[in-house]
Amino acid sequence: MLSTDDSPLNGYSQGCMSFGYETRPRYHHKMPSSLRAAFLIACLKKEVLTGCGKLTAPLRVVLARFANLLVSRISVFPIHNKLLGHERQELTLIMIIPYRTLNHSKEEGMNDSTLSYLACCCCGSELSESKRRLYCTKCGISFPVVLGRPIIMTGKMMMNWRSPIDEALDISDQRTLMDSLRTLSELGIDKSVEIVLEKQKQIESITELDTVSDKIRWKMKYRASGKWFKYSNRTPRLLTFPWEEDSDGSFRAFMKAISITRPKVLLDVASGGGFGVSQQVYLNGTVMQVIAVERDPKCLTNIQYRFKHIGKSSIADAVGGDVRYLPVLSSSVDTAMMLGGLHEIHGISRVLREVYRVLKPGGSFHVLVGEEQLSVEGVSEDDFRWFTSVADLYAGGASFVQTASSCGFVVKSRVFSGSEGRKRRLVKLSKQAED
Ligand SMILES: C[S@@+](CC[C@H](N)C(=O)[O-])C[C@H]1O[C@@H](n2cnc3c(N)ncnc32)[C@H](O)[C@@H]1O
Ligand SMILES: [Zn+2]
Repeated sequence: MLSTDDSPLNGYSQGCMSFGYETRPRYHHKMPSSLRAAFLIACLKKEVLTGCGKLTAPLRVVLARFANLLVSRISVFPIHNKLLGHERQELTLIMIIPYRTLNHSKEEGMNDSTLSYLACCCCGSELSESKRRLYCTKCGISFPVVLGRPIIMTGKMMMNWRSPIDEALDISDQRTLMDSLRTLSELGIDKSVEIVLEKQKQIESITELDTVSDKIRWKMKYRASGKWFKYSNRTPRLLTFPWEEDSDGSFRAFMKAISITRPKVLLDVASGGGFGVSQQVYLNGTVMQVIAVERDPKCLTNIQYRFKHIGKSSIADAVGGDVRYLPVLSSSVDTAMMLGGLHEIHGISRVLREVYRVLKPGGSFHVLVGEEQLSVEGVSEDDFRWFTSVADLYAGGASFVQTASSCGFVVKSRVFSGSEGRKRRLVKLSKQAED
């Protein structure tokens, strides 16, 4: 059984329980009825009795769906039963908390406390709220709040997923990364660099974002409903704490590196669907304020769903923002984190400078990223490196460390080797405390 100290639910006080049950149906009468119902369904689906290794993920899902229980850890182990004289399997469900039935009908706004950390993406000044819009107190530009999510971007910044190479080349179609790598190879590196440099000369005009389209609003609503998790196989990722698929141990080390800084204010950079930040917030009891910044609006309701699901929405908000123009006040964040976003970002050094700005002196930025940079068939390594440096794209762990140092950070990093030669780099970037 887990002790309170190493409990994955440390800091989460809501009704934890432990059970030890035999997988054999004849013992089921000892279970509470809601658990028994869920357990029987799992048995009927032959997900429980067919073998230990395969049962945990489906059982977790069945328990959540039918018995409203969120299971933190499940283990199955054989026990020698002296009375019966044979080995039996014992199923132990450790730490079960009520799975929240979420109320999706009400449009919830962000927390009042969050507003005091947010800033205008154009000038960095404080914001004030009025009639579902946020107003910059200095430059006067305003930003919409859609389905409770503040979207602090100008018209050009808000974007669905787009390949960073397409962004650098100013191609606006939604295409895969492979497609844009192919274009790069067809254009050739000289021409590609010329396009990037030309684009950098253009001064972008600021267009105020009125609101989002009906199509985007529909996608946001759909994800806020939780159906996105339910009608696909993403539910185990939503329910599993701590995340177990971590063959090289880098994810666990990443989570620990963040939590030992004991942040009160935590910033997540390029949050995607909110997987990394929700894991940290769930496991870390010291965090008082969380801001997750992501520019794809449909992801925002996804992230907020995760926060609500783990019972942390009163301290955590997903905020629409471009991480190269963080909508966060200077020197306001204790710790920042980013899980795997670097390969998808155009403007790495701008992101680093922004994170440096918003961190308090003595604060740190923790990044976990694949070590290798991309490569393109038909383009030499040197040429591709030239392109990535001009376009300010991720060019591998070693080069990232150099860029971070030149932005003022003190850098420590460690490389993890996983299966099939894949490497991941865990980087800690510290902003020096003032003397
Ligand atoms: C691989 S996902 C990150 C995964 C995420 N950290 C998690 O924990 O699941 C990369 C995300 O970066 C976002 N992104 C790319 N460029 C961005 C930018 N300039 N500003 C904000 N988000 C950006 C993309 O929309 C995408 O959702
Ligand atoms: Zn402003």
